[in-house]
Amino acid sequence: MSDQQADVLDVIEGLMQESRTFPPPPEFQARALVRDRSLYDEAAKDFEEFWARLAGELIDWFTPPTKRLEWDPPHCTWFADGELNVSYNCLDRHVQQGHGDQVAYHWVGEPANETRDVSFAELLEETGRIANGLKALGVKRGDRVGIYMGMVPELPAAMLACARIGAPHVVVFGGFSSESLAERLQSAGAKILITQDEGWRKGGKVPLKADADEAVAGSPSVERVVVLQRTGGDIPWNAQRDVWWHELVADVPAECEPARMNAEDTLFLLHTSGTTAKPKAPQHATGGYLLHAAVTHRLIFDIHEDTVWWCAADIGWVTGHSYIVYGPLANRTTGLLYEGDPAYPDWDRHWELVERYGVTTYYTAPTLIRSFVKMGPAYPGRHDLSSLRLLGTVGEPINPEAWLWYWKVIGQERCPIVDTWWQTETGAILISPLPGVTTLKPGSATVPLPGIEVDIVDERGTPVPPGSGGFLVITRPWPGMFRTLWDDDERYVETYFGEYGRGVYVTGDGAKQDSDGYFWLMGRIDDVINVAGHRLSTTEIESALVEHPAVAEAAATGAHDPQRGQRIVCFVLLKAGQTHTPELSGDLREFVAEKIGKIARPAAVLFGDDLPKTRSGKIMRRLLKDIAEGHDLGDTTTLRDADVVEELKRQADEAFGRTAS
Ligand code: PRX
Repeated sequence: MSDQQADVLDVIEGLMQESRTFPPPPEFQARALVRDRSLYDEAAKDFEEFWARLAGELIDWFTPPTKRLEWDPPHCTWFADGELNVSYNCLDRHVQQGHGDQVAYHWVGEPANETRDVSFAELLEETGRIANGLKALGVKRGDRVGIYMGMVPELPAAMLACARIGAPHVVVFGGFSSESLAERLQSAGAKILITQDEGWRKGGKVPLKADADEAVAGSPSVERVVVLQRTGGDIPWNAQRDVWWHELVADVPAECEPARMNAEDTLFLLHTSGTTAKPKAPQHATGGYLLHAAVTHRLIFDIHEDTVWWCAADIGWVTGHSYIVYGPLANRTTGLLYEGDPAYPDWDRHWELVERYGVTTYYTAPTLIRSFVKMGPAYPGRHDLSSLRLLGTVGEPINPEAWLWYWKVIGQERCPIVDTWWQTETGAILISPLPGVTTLKPGSATVPLPGIEVDIVDERGTPVPPGSGGFLVITRPWPGMFRTLWDDDERYVETYFGEYGRGVYVTGDGAKQDSDGYFWLMGRIDDVINVAGHRLSTTEIESALVEHPAVAEAAATGAHDPQRGQRIVCFVLLKAGQTHTPELSGDLREFVAEKIGKIARPAAVLFGDDLPKTRSGKIMRRLLKDIAEGHDLGDTTTLRDADVVEELKRQADEAFGRTAS
């Protein structure tokens, strides 16, 4: 450890012992959009009126709504007689008001020296062209359009084009495998897929088009594939089906009339992992979602005319949808869009960009912050970070050590940190500080936003007292709430509203509240694993493993990982005649990565003559976690075969370099 690192760790130690709280720094507060509790008071009086007021102020409606919330638990609508267009709100109105030249995205490619500034006027033009191009390919209102791209400006343009013509988009993260892509395209019944030749990642090329081809081969609904030329590399081509983006947009006008959409029309579907093998597709509506994304972006991130915004997520996740595309563009914010890896070419890439573009507001995941901590303060130390005013985190609980490092080394004890809790299903942030008002406690997402009502309950649905752990539930609807699961309303009702009555949304997270009413999120309490802020289901991983010819049975668990939050540990029972070797373990890890995507690659595969089961044959999931985490296993006499457990524990300890106990 360097002296500098030791120094920082000392400071952190000191801070933790003081268990300090962090009131808004006076210089920040002096200029903050929200400086007092009046919004909380307003929303507490009449939350529907609160959202309706903001809907009138922040959104341009073709037909202003007279309706507000309609709640027929568990289904809601918001502003159901209003008409609007999301791309109009993100682009046209800003250009019409004379801001066409303002930069929407400072785009930075991964290869050195590749940059492009895209203004609101240019983004509108590209959006209009690709919207007309999609229409020319036969895309109609209501048709689903798949998008499988890297982080290039054409990705938001493609999404906005879909919004412009009323075709819900289904963005699939570019790191997912062709099989995962096929599953999502099929489940959404996508008619068109937009992709690119290749992407850049860690200095190498990602074969997006080749993977898309494989996926489309198994997705009969996809009629045409639009291909953006990004790298110019050689790619397979199907002349009947494929069309180049640049050729498609060259033949059509730039003006495309934005469709008058009903507030409740679907804006997009975005798949996420649940507790079963099949990913589900939360379905988001137009008006309420846009409002929720715009309000939360503006107030939590304290957006001003001079804000330079950077949400370092990927647009393939909901964070990118809401806080790279819709929220920031609706608020006419200049943002950074970075194509590549945070460690390419070196670990100071983000800080170099913060300095170069004068980034004021930076939003990322705790897992990345922990990597920064590990790499040491010399990387940020190389750059001038004085432009930063505000920092944010999302995706998983942030440990106080990482929080304090972020505060001290990146924010230089000047920038509030907003720890924002939300989910793909919630559309936008629900629990978060407002940085000009809320006193921060490292590790806590603090309190629900104005208008949001949550609770922590026990198995029977009874609220638990402060200090006790329980299940986080949301007890009334909010505008950005998903309306259902695509094509599976029954699963929507049962998964999310089946526990404590149809009016109570079950988040799947454990939480506790302290005596000041602050919420501390404690991670998933279901079979969802959160690896580096990405959701994966144990069942999805298990189903992938049993497709391997050598595997008879498999179980997966999420174990604590100091860097990535959780790591995937798999337990495998091989078919008769198969022997377990380190090679097979490597093959199986690779197999899962290929089936689902690299984010799902298990940290370890352990082999047993059986899986840890009760005498009645039920897999003991709690025990899997204890084995994977190296905990003392206690009494294992209820097991069918206690020796199996000892052997698995030995392998786990060996895999993670623990001295066997
Ligand atoms: O467990 C919670 C965790 O991420 C889950 C939602 O994952 P996803 O739908 O992929 O969306 C991630 C980005 C919004 C939640 O159920 N989570 C998200 N934010 C936080 C968090 N856990 C603790 N603190 C957070 N700030």
